[in-house]
Amino acid sequence: MIFLGSDHAGFELKESIKNYLKEKGINYLDMGTDSLKSVDYPDYALKVAEKVKADDDKNSFGILVCGTGIGMEIAANKINGIRAALAYDEYTAEVAKKHNNANVLTLGGRTTTPTEAIRYIDKFMSSMYEGGRHENRISKITSMEKLKD
Ligand code: RB5
Repeated sequence: MIFLGSDHAGFELKESIKNYLKEKGINYLDMGTDSLKSVDYPDYALKVAEKVKADDDKNSFGILVCGTGIGMEIAANKINGIRAALAYDEYTAEVAKKHNNANVLTLGGRTTTPTEAIRYIDKFMSSMYEGGRHENRISKITSMEKLKD
C-alpha cells in the first residue's frame, strides 16, 4: 500500500502520481489534500507518517508532496520510525531505499515534473534495502529517537 499526501503546492503532482498508480494497478490511499486551497503541510505529513508507522507490511510506504518536498521531509521525520527522504533525481530515489531504507519518499511539486516523479517512484519501488553496513547506521538513527525531550 502506498499512502499519499500533499499540501496545495503538491496537489497537482499528487494527482498525477495517483493516475499513474491507478493505471499500474498499484494500491494507494489518498490522505489529502483534495484541492488547491492553501493548507499546512505538517498536517498531511502527520497523517501519512502515522499510517506508514502503523502498517505491518514492509512493502508499504508513503509519498508526500509539497512545494519543494523539504517541509514534508522535515515534518514526517519527527515521527518515530519514519525515515523520510527527498528524491530529486533517480539516484537519490534509489539510494534512499538501498542505503537509508526510507519508508516515505518526498517530492517537490514545484521542482519536479510528473514524468520525473514517476521515474523516481519507479526507481524507489524497484530498489531493495541493502542492509549490511547500513543496518548499524539505521539502528543508530532509531536509537536517537529516544533522545527526544
Ligand atoms: C507552500 O507554499 C510551501 O511552502 C510548501 O509547499 C513547502 O514547499 C514547504 O516546504
